[in-house]
Amino acid sequence: MSEYRPLRVALLGAGSVGAEVARLLLEQKEELKSRVGAELELVGVAVRDLTTKREGFPKDLLTTDVESLILGADIVIEVMGGIEPAKEYILRALNSGADVVTANKSLLATHGTELFNVAEQVGAQLYFEAAVAGAIPIIRPLRESLGGDRVKRIMGIVNGSTNYILDRMDKSGISLEEAMAEATELGYLEADPSLDVEGFDAAQKAAILATLAFHTEVPLDKVYREGITSITVAQMKAAQRDGYVIKLLAICEFLEADSSGPEGISVRVYPALVPRSHPLAAVNGAYNAVFVEAEAAGSLMFYGSGAGGTQTASAVLGDVVSAAKRHVAGGPGLSNSTHAKLEILPISRIQTRYSVQLEVSDQPGVLAKIATTFSKHGVSIEAVEQSVLSGKEVVAYLEIGTHLASDAALAAVVEDLKASDAVQKVASVIRMEGL
Ligand code: HSE
Repeated sequence: MSEYRPLRVALLGAGSVGAEVARLLLEQKEELKSRVGAELELVGVAVRDLTTKREGFPKDLLTTDVESLILGADIVIEVMGGIEPAKEYILRALNSGADVVTANKSLLATHGTELFNVAEQVGAQLYFEAAVAGAIPIIRPLRESLGGDRVKRIMGIVNGSTNYILDRMDKSGISLEEAMAEATELGYLEADPSLDVEGFDAAQKAAILATLAFHTEVPLDKVYREGITSITVAQMKAAQRDGYVIKLLAICEFLEADSSGPEGISVRVYPALVPRSHPLAAVNGAYNAVFVEAEAAGSLMFYGSGAGGTQTASAVLGDVVSAAKRHVAGGPGLSNSTHAKLEILPISRIQTRYSVQLEVSDQPGVLAKIATTFSKHGVSIEAVEQSVLSGKEVVAYLEIGTHLASDAALAAVVEDLKASDAVQKVASVIRMEGL
């Protein structure tokens, strides 16, 4: 391979990912040069404050002059996070003809279309493998490897901190608050923990995955979202007893047209019961995994570290190498396809199974009344288990598993159950996935 001129690489952000990206670029310089056919020259690292003590960065590379750094670069790596000024910097980089590599999920989930349009107009590349599930290659498989297939469904554990919390609750029987305290101690949670535990982070990632999988722009506000904050020790115990584990799932699914509406896609995040035999049930601690079902490929599973400086830097470096190779080889490179323009369907359209737990009066006719409520809304019961609560002679605990039912029908059942004089309390309603 004849040697190309050195490619100037600018790094925006000097946090844990930035530090590892800089280290790998510098330490692996010779090897990367051989792989790419051009030297990758780290020309500067943009920081907000030069006086902050930073380990691992050559001092002469640090700069606050972001504008000059961007204008002189062939490839700009954005690992600073947040919407602004990251968006402004990325637009500036693209408009100056630089390729951009970003790990910024919140920016892509909210302003991705604008950024991709600009990239396409100016003929620059926008790579983002690190934005979803850290080190796990999932963007490239969806964009390229499965580019000739039809994705039917994606079911992923894409938030490591909530997976850690749920896993600890499952394995040690501790409460959500105790598990959250542990996750905080380990530095797993975002600065604003609600981004993790309320499912916002997973929703951003789901929007990005669904956009790629279904060639359809998915605005973040169309992603249905429930977090894990209402998961109780009792729900965990019941799940264990029945052979399930509770996981926070991001699901992107193609739904055929049916009597309740047209075809489209559902993009959603919620905690669900997953059978212990399902591959996602074995994803422990802060690990991530994405299970993809495609028409021709069948089932595929991608597993690995969803966060961490070094691991995320690996995904960033892979994108840098792709961008650099394009510079060397020339040509337009990848563009995003959002041609399908599928309808994004409300949660009421999905069909899944449910586990409903009720505290009921232990009297004749109660079970019949409850069964009637389910049948009134067309929801078929698959299993019922009753136990009498110790020390409360007149209260029984009912656990009802349903066959496939629509979310709309199940919501109507729950509303009626809450109003029923046979039911003292609707203790838990949780969806079941992966059956
Ligand atoms: N807060 C995220 C997580 C970090 O827990 O997975 C990686 O996006």
